[in-house]
Amino acid sequence: MEVVIVPDAKSGGELVAEAMARLLRRKPDALLGVATGSTPLPVYEALAAHVHAGDVDVSRARIAQLDEYVGLPAEHPESYRSVLRREVLEPLGIGMDAFMGPDGTAQDVQGACEAYDRALAEAGGVDLQLLGIGTDGHIGFNEPCSSLVSRTRIKTLTEQTRVDNARFFDGDVDAVPHHVITQGIGTILEARHVVLLATGEAKADAVAASVEGAVAAMCPASALQLHPHATVVVDEGAASKLKLADYFRHTFASKPDWQGI
Ligand code: PGA
Repeated sequence: MEVVIVPDAKSGGELVAEAMARLLRRKPDALLGVATGSTPLPVYEALAAHVHAGDVDVSRARIAQLDEYVGLPAEHPESYRSVLRREVLEPLGIGMDAFMGPDGTAQDVQGACEAYDRALAEAGGVDLQLLGIGTDGHIGFNEPCSSLVSRTRIKTLTEQTRVDNARFFDGDVDAVPHHVITQGIGTILEARHVVLLATGEAKADAVAASVEGAVAAMCPASALQLHPHATVVVDEGAASKLKLADYFRHTFASKPDWQGI
């Protein structure tokens, strides 16, 4: 696991966008796994800047969704499909034909989950999966005690996650759905490169537990320790409880530029 400490959220976004741009130059039809939430926004802004500057071509790029609310119509402004269309696809000029995600309105939820896992495999697998982290250590919507080998499935949100997400529903926690479909931890770990981005002190405990704690279902992001190519990008606030912060700083500063993350 590589840990990169950046000065602020903007530089974290630029670092991750550069990794995506490098990937797309090497593999123009790469499948990018994207996340919702506030943390990844600087990544999408920086990647859009690359695209508008003409130094990366996303015309063949494909986008895969990480998780989705159950029961929100796809056209609801806060369905993750709508959010990703608004925050990722439109700014990058990528059409919905290059997008894949689970159907949060399916009658047969389990069937929709299994179909999505199959679709990801048939698409050749995710090349780079971007993740945020919850204050409780969740990745995707895999809340604490999720199986570390779980597949895409329905989950129930913790009250804390619903409170955290109420800001997207005009502060109305009752409007936040209780159920979600999320790529499982086992599904996420199949991506070739997993990049977790965390910013702000509120994430410091979750980051320390994920990076330096034991691999445990109580902290789902700790499963990334089992991935051969996992990168954790944190700003100073999110890094503030890491015991090995100086080592991580030294390691990244000594890394040749061409290597990327
Ligand atoms: P946030 O959400 O980026 O909005 O903090 C992260 C998450 O819950 O995974």
